[in-house]
Amino acid sequence: MRAVTLDGFGGPEVMRWAEVPDPPPPGPGEVAIDVTAAGVNRADLLQRQGNYPPPPGASELLGLECSGVIAEVGAGVQDWRPGDRVCALLSGGGYAERVVAPATQVLPIPQALDTAAAAALPEVAATVWSNLVVRAGLHAGQLLLIHGGGSGIGTHAIQVAVSRGARVAVTAGSAGKLDRCKQLGANILINYREEDFVAVLGEFGGADVILDNMGAAYLGRNIEALAPDGQLCVIGMQGGVKGELNIATLVGKRGTVHATNLRRRPATGRSSKAEIIAELRRHLWPLIADGTIAPVVSAELPATEAPEAHRLLDSAETVGKVLLRIRDN
Ligand SMILES: NC(=O)c1ccc[n+]([C@@H]2O[C@H](COP(=O)([O-])OP(=O)(O)OC[C@H]3O[C@@H](n4cnc5c(N)ncnc54)[C@H](OP(=O)(O)O)[C@@H]3O)[C@@H](O)[C@H]2O)c1
Repeated sequence: MRAVTLDGFGGPEVMRWAEVPDPPPPGPGEVAIDVTAAGVNRADLLQRQGNYPPPPGASELLGLECSGVIAEVGAGVQDWRPGDRVCALLSGGGYAERVVAPATQVLPIPQALDTAAAAALPEVAATVWSNLVVRAGLHAGQLLLIHGGGSGIGTHAIQVAVSRGARVAVTAGSAGKLDRCKQLGANILINYREEDFVAVLGEFGGADVILDNMGAAYLGRNIEALAPDGQLCVIGMQGGVKGELNIATLVGKRGTVHATNLRRRPATGRSSKAEIIAELRRHLWPLIADGTIAPVVSAELPATEAPEAHRLLDSAETVGKVLLRIRDN
């Protein structure tokens, strides 16, 4: 098969569309997927640079999510048949013509949804649901602050929060991105280059939940921006890994800090990927099927243009997801 390979670690130019060995046939409980499209994630950029090695046993190839068609099923797989249109959460290997994944990490593509577009869903859906709903229990009437509202994660999180009746505040670095967030249902729009989000949230009594991509750089200000009993969910480290936490402020607010990572969760068991995917299928997928929540795709590039896809995600130009088109079905 062909896949995006790395000529060593480095900039986008190290990526090449080349022949590689086929993956082994699916083992018990696994399926092989002929990939239509792969989602491009910030983690892929780090892996390409040599700063985010795949977990033990995972494919060395890039790609944490894909959509496509089931090609083969392993022993004991009941839920899927060859020919089913699916999308899947992966530990790696999505930037390739074929990938093998645990059957428990696969989701059906609703009839009305384009196969390629579904590649935009697994990573954001699993991250947002496991943080906002499972961890923080986001519910109607609460105020959620999403940092990076125009990101792949942000554009999905806005829709999930609105569907649960929450009010949504977002930060973004441009008026264009804030406009798109407003169209998706955000109602408090903060340009982080011009305004202090702590002051803005203060006018609304603070945020009940914050979804944070910045890590260290925003830690102190996030705690200040929380409402009493507020919860901070840290999912990104774009602003560094070591910050100072004012325990007195956190204690005074009876606040909670959550921090999670999706890729390194176990495949099965407690807090596993299988558990999250089952939750998504039960609770989120009906909203995807009826169009309440839609994938937000900023750009779709052919697999041969993987370097450009990475440059694009790393620029401030995209709103929502960037996809790599692997084949035309
Ligand atoms: N923990 C997990 O399991 C998990 C899973 C998936 C993703 N993530 C993390 O979630 C984050 C979003 O992922 P993604 O794939 O959606 O990334 P993405 O589409 O590349 O978005 C990154 C966003 O960061 C925003 N940003 C940059 N500087 C900012 C600042 N000072 N304040 C607020 N926002 C700022 C950018 O917005 P502007 O262009 O408007 O500046 C951009 O929208 C990343 O940090 C990623 O690593 C974590």
